[in-house]
Amino acid sequence: MARQMVMVGFLQAQNCTNLPASWRHPDSRTDFLSADFYREIAHVLERGKFHLAFFDDRLAMPDRYGGDHVHTVEYGIRCVKLDPIVTLMTMGMATTRLGLGATCSTTYYEPFHVARMFATIDLMTGGRAAWNVVTSLNDGEAMNMGRDGVLEHDLRYDRADEFMEVVLGQWDSWEDDALILDKASGRFADGARVHRLDHVGPYFRSRGPFTVPRSAQGHPVVIQAGQSGRGRRFAGRWGEVIFVTSGSIGMGKRNYATLKEEAVACGRDPDRMLLCNLVTPVCAATKAEAEDKMALIQRLPLEIDQLSLLAEALNFDFATKGLDEELTDAELASFSGIQTIRDRVLALSGKRNPTVREFMQLSHRGRPDDAIVGDPKGVADRLEEMFTEHVCDGFVVAATHVPGGYADFVEFVVPELQRRGLYHTDYTGATLRENLGLPRPELGAWRHAVPTSV
Ligand SMILES: Cc1cc2nc3c(=O)[nH]c(=O)nc-3n(C[C@H](O)[C@H](O)[C@H](O)COP(=O)(O)O)c2cc1C
Repeated sequence: MARQMVMVGFLQAQNCTNLPASWRHPDSRTDFLSADFYREIAHVLERGKFHLAFFDDRLAMPDRYGGDHVHTVEYGIRCVKLDPIVTLMTMGMATTRLGLGATCSTTYYEPFHVARMFATIDLMTGGRAAWNVVTSLNDGEAMNMGRDGVLEHDLRYDRADEFMEVVLGQWDSWEDDALILDKASGRFADGARVHRLDHVGPYFRSRGPFTVPRSAQGHPVVIQAGQSGRGRRFAGRWGEVIFVTSGSIGMGKRNYATLKEEAVACGRDPDRMLLCNLVTPVCAATKAEAEDKMALIQRLPLEIDQLSLLAEALNFDFATKGLDEELTDAELASFSGIQTIRDRVLALSGKRNPTVREFMQLSHRGRPDDAIVGDPKGVADRLEEMFTEHVCDGFVVAATHVPGGYADFVEFVVPELQRRGLYHTDYTGATLRENLGLPRPELGAWRHAVPTSV
């Protein structure tokens, strides 16, 4: 069968989409504290045959800017964050085929706990669960979780590697045919087919046996979005669905090849790793209508949205600087969050010491400037180019407002992609893995993924 796109909805269990200004959009639903809000999004995505809906997460509201939360709350800059896993269940109960992913940090939870939550969701949804593995990035999260500050970047990934060994090890505790449930003989399960992990490592200890049997899809799908060199090695070892952001076709193709090589270097089949590129579509029946929609959206963001989100993501207080003041070498080196944002701004500005304003203009953080605006043909053309040029295997679709951002995509772009044979017309399987074309993992298969490139 011809290669087809994977479609993922980029969701937030919060008061706005990843565009903070989205809550001010006239068509945004404001009942984001209700289950019905998430159910409607789930229905829209399933109508559009999305493979997966996934919630991002951060364990703090953005309060790094000025060391204060008042601006965050006043302007609604991602200040409400519900628990994504609990919210996910409301969507799971409202759908039958849509995959369901949530973000959970390897830095602030115990692996046994994370393994049990996601394995349970996987069972409750008939094998549709996925876990977005993140290492967390700023001091606000650290302080909410009882630490003084964020751990050093690469150390977070070293711990995360071991975290994965424990989670996957626990998920493999129960062999597939361990359950017997024979009332006549009185045998509930085969004791020889349920194993203890007995993990003892530098960062974690976890004994087992695990308390949740395997699901229809074996275990939840692992999502990852590491972008730094260390992050990409991690993604190459563990990730089955990878989120990427590509500046251009050329850069995206190189990034695609690098990530697939990381998987090969770990002894993995690169086709079992699906790269999904972040896109923000703004679409309508005609190009002119789409441009009108975009003009409205462009008027929504505030300067403070950008400053606050940059401070949050880079873990640096931009309020200590004037907008046109250059960042010093020491300040740039101290950024401990998403380092690719810094590296891209340095590359795009061609400067060693960009100003705060250049960070705002070149990162586009908190703004929808990189949206794909157009009629069905125009948007589909752009997605087709990225897909056929091997920038990605599919897309993480962000919304400028909800549910309208998704509803427009499903109404205008999905039928055009289906007409071109680039996107499936219906779900072919029951589990997320079946719909993604990923095989059900053998017990212990992950143990073969050992990096040789490091
Ligand atoms: C589409 C997408 C979604 C992401 N979602 C989250 C998230 O929910 N929580 C989080 O802490 N980081 C999230 N990240 C950030 C990544 O996990 C990662 O930290 C970032 O891309 C920087 O890479 P690095 O960790 O290798 O430096 C996301 C990244 C992308 C591209």
